[in-house]
Amino acid sequence: MCGIVGYTGEQECTEMLLKGLERLEYRGYDSAGIGETCPAGIAVRRAAGRISCLRKKIEEEPIAGRTGIGHTRWATHGKPSCANAHPQSSQNGRVAVVHNGIIENYKELRQELEAQGVAFTSETDTETVAQLLEFYYQGNMQKTLEKVLPMLKGSFALGILDAAAPNTLYAARRQSPLVIGLGEGETFIASDITALLDHTRTICFLEDDDIAVLTPAKAAVFNLQGRQQSRKTEQISWNQQAAQKGGFDHYMLKEIFDQPKALEDTLNHYIDREAMAIRPNTIPFTKEQALAITGISIAACGTAYHAAAMGKAMVEKLAKIPCRAEVASEFRYDDHPSSPQEVFIAVSQSGETADTLAALRREKEAGCWVLAVSNVIGSTISREAQGVMYTLAGPEIAVASTKAYLTQVLLLTLLALELGRLRGEIDEKTMKSYLTRLLALPAQVEQVLADAPQVKAFAAAQSSCSNIFFIGRLADYYTALEASLKLKEVSYLPAQAYAAGELKHGTIALIDENTLVVGIATQNKVREKTFSNLEEVRARGAKLLLITGEGCTIPGELWRLPTNGEIEGPLLAAVYGQLFAYYMALQQGCDIDKPRNLAKSVTVE
Ligand code: F6R
Repeated sequence: MCGIVGYTGEQECTEMLLKGLERLEYRGYDSAGIGETCPAGIAVRRAAGRISCLRKKIEEEPIAGRTGIGHTRWATHGKPSCANAHPQSSQNGRVAVVHNGIIENYKELRQELEAQGVAFTSETDTETVAQLLEFYYQGNMQKTLEKVLPMLKGSFALGILDAAAPNTLYAARRQSPLVIGLGEGETFIASDITALLDHTRTICFLEDDDIAVLTPAKAAVFNLQGRQQSRKTEQISWNQQAAQKGGFDHYMLKEIFDQPKALEDTLNHYIDREAMAIRPNTIPFTKEQALAITGISIAACGTAYHAAAMGKAMVEKLAKIPCRAEVASEFRYDDHPSSPQEVFIAVSQSGETADTLAALRREKEAGCWVLAVSNVIGSTISREAQGVMYTLAGPEIAVASTKAYLTQVLLLTLLALELGRLRGEIDEKTMKSYLTRLLALPAQVEQVLADAPQVKAFAAAQSSCSNIFFIGRLADYYTALEASLKLKEVSYLPAQAYAAGELKHGTIALIDENTLVVGIATQNKVREKTFSNLEEVRARGAKLLLITGEGCTIPGELWRLPTNGEIEGPLLAAVYGQLFAYYMALQQGCDIDKPRNLAKSVTVE
């Protein structure tokens, strides 16, 4: 939930750390700090609030080290305050630590240290790590980490400074993301690669319980027994431009407008246009494997769960395989029976979401074959899965997920089509026609985006609206769920999604003349039924907005989709939902890219 960055090299690093934190601010933004090794020891500057508050503090009290760590926080233990901000230091100032994750047994460890006379100054679990490292100091930090890390229960990505080793940066991880960047005479750590793109694209991913020792010349990785480990380096193709706003007022809007390209990149990776077929080895199933599948479970959280639900609809429609989509935080604990003939799919933009990862581990242990759909190369979920399909959405910075969602749905649709083909449910001709239709999606999304001014004008006229419902049936219900989540998280307006036929079983009592009902109708066999449900709410005073490809003469605002296709419709309707959420939030004056109480990557349960 927090962002970490670290540097050691020839340059003064304060600005690099601050810029890196600004890129990571989406991960958490209630307090921030940096620490650097200086001749007099480790200097720390911290501030409650955004990175801009930290900047101000550093302007007043500058520091100029060449080895440093930085942190932007999303509070879990202790309120957002200067004292609880990271780096957390040990009582004699020998050690400073930045941390992402949760130390589950910190209370016991803290009590033991306090009993030995160690004085704590914060409410955080992180301070316990700093104090342990000083208390058990073994002459060098690597040896100390080998002793202390096994004492910790829970998850951590750590950046550590040792006053006795001013040109060395230490890092360690377990279950929380941390990457190493390798530059010319400088090395880096960061929670994700967007913080490093200005400096290097040569990245190395740490594994659980790795200890990294970074000097300007190199990064060496060791296990808990002190044996050096070899870790593969990768070249990342994302560039900094892709991670910047590019003239848009907000990342969210930029990422909504990135979607034609995100879809195009993903389509080009998976579809061979000449053969009009799925490229070999991009979808990790052979015919034998596809025929042997008895069922598929897909689990994910939030927006990724809505993509999972859409995936379920596509798998059942196109591959005719029984499929269920579950919220990962429930699925990881519920009593569902798992069978080794089943496939499990984890969908996660970040590839780090704690509940999705736990669901994946549970199914893997039960003998299911597990597949990851992720946007982040080398993320924990993609590394732990037995197969991985990457969305090529590029970096998604806004907290509200948009382009990752669209590419997730696209990928699950491609997977459903390929499984259908391999199982003989879809013949070659039909397959080609589906793929041809999907290839038209980027241009169709452009058409929807061209309606942004109409969406903006409509949003501006909704000030009297106190209650918003999104309704739809089948796949449209899942789009309704996603549109309603998007609206809630960025505009803080109360919104609900309902299966259109279910509304009249109680909830219709909430409908009055201050209600806006958004009807989504892209699925042919239920299109007319959704129209009838809209008539029902109109008769009770609701204002209507309809998103559909054809038909319907009900009075109200109409956003016409460029196609009637059932597999394209939900994706296109989702784009209208995103634009609507964005413009509603804009007129409410909300902090769109960093909504209150949220963080981009939920690495705690
Ligand atoms: C909403 C949103 C969240 C994420 C969820 C899962 O816009 O972004 O609901 O979708 O936290 O995150 P990932 O996909 O990284 O597992």
